[in-house]
Amino acid sequence: MKRDITSRMDLALLMEKFYAKLLQDKKIGIFFTEVVPLDLSTHLPILVDFWEQQLFHTGNYKTNVLQVHQQLNALKNITLTDFDHWLMIFNNTVDENFQGTQAAMIKTRALSIATVMKIKLSVS
Ligand code: HEM
Repeated sequence: MKRDITSRMDLALLMEKFYAKLLQDKKIGIFFTEVVPLDLSTHLPILVDFWEQQLFHTGNYKTNVLQVHQQLNALKNITLTDFDHWLMIFNNTVDENFQGTQAAMIKTRALSIATVMKIKLSVS
């Protein structure tokens, strides 16, 4: 049986696996490789901070994540299907590696944040 997400190390593993998929993805990989070519050694710890705050209320994430994606959307339009695809990869990565209350919680959080982003970015 799979374990639940219980620590920063678990989140680091999850983000590593999630980004391995995202970067290779034919549909939305381009955002991470060409629109904003990311250095994973600096980007992944930021994502871990973000999710640590969301799940465990620890960590030190202070950036306005909506604004980051507004700027991204100005560089290349993010569509509704891009968001749905992002969520599908996110949920699959969680399910492949973890199971439990926090694993369910992180998927719920991702969905609610993505829903707010879609509305605020006027995505269509
Ligand atoms: C199709 C949907 C999405 C795309 C294409 C996307 C793409 C990106 C890209 C390219 C960056 C790097 C931006 C930069 O450094 O300038 C980024 C950062 C980030 N994204 Fe997304 N994203 C998407 C959805 C989401 C969602 C739904 C969440 C949260 C649930 C999220 C959380 C984050 C976080 C926490 C960062 C780090 C921001 C920072 O540097 O502080 N993203 N995203």
